[in-house]
Amino acid sequence: MRLILLGAPGAGKGTQAQYICEQFKIPQISTGDMLRAAIKDGTELGLKVKEIMNSGGLVSDQIIIDLVKERISQPDCENGFLFDGFPRTIPQADAMKEGGVKIDHVLEIAVPDEEIVNRLAGRRVHPASGRVYHVDHNPPKEPGKDDVTGEQLIQREDDQESTVRNRLSVYHDQTAPLVDYYQQWADKDAEAAPQYHRIEGVGSVADITRQVKEALG
Ligand code: AP5
Ligand code: ZN
Repeated sequence: MRLILLGAPGAGKGTQAQYICEQFKIPQISTGDMLRAAIKDGTELGLKVKEIMNSGGLVSDQIIIDLVKERISQPDCENGFLFDGFPRTIPQADAMKEGGVKIDHVLEIAVPDEEIVNRLAGRRVHPASGRVYHVDHNPPKEPGKDDVTGEQLIQREDDQESTVRNRLSVYHDQTAPLVDYYQQWADKDAEAAPQYHRIEGVGSVADITRQVKEALG
């Protein structure tokens, strides 16, 4: 099973990815997590992307496409994978199409902007695993601690309100056009195109998971 999770910053892609990847036993490929790991490790890639990520802009298509192509050539991707936060621009989607990477489903998680600002203000993450929590809507068992390792949770640098607003505007400009891109492709060539599902992303985490389950059968 090969899936794309499409949605604004804070829509709940990472949250639902945890469920889907466990269910289908496929790896989560989060380009955001990969870039944050590179920054933390101080690699050449990390140094290149740090500033742009902290400002809420997008990293160049070529860097991302190379990173993803390398990642999906790994043996653990043989039975499928879930893209979280990729593709994020039309050239990224075209690179997959032209490279013959067949995707089974695109799941769009739709959440209005007002809700997003609140979600990201309360988000806490466990950087080593990518597990995400929310102080009110999805709290860890022990405040400030990861459920599995007990390690300290942190706030992401790009979750400050002004940066979130910039990320939302970048989303509407550069990523939202992928909604039409995949819908039109599915209308034109249902055989080759991924199946498109729109999920209403406001509701409890469990409600959204239920809709995801229904969409994937
Ligand atoms: P990335 O890490 O992909 O960030 P993002 O797309 O902005 O998405 P988020 O991780 O912020 O949100 P999410 O949808 O995963 O939500 P989550 O489940 O955590 O990218 C970061 C940066 O990397 C980009 O800005 C860019 O610079 C760069 N980058 C990455 N990929 C790139 C690419 N392909 N091309 C170019 N640049 C790229 O949930 C959010 C919060 O809400 C959590 O606290 C959660 O607990 C809570 N929550 C979840 N579901 C619910 C619910 N139903 N109700 C209430 N709260 C909920
Ligand atoms: Zn995420």
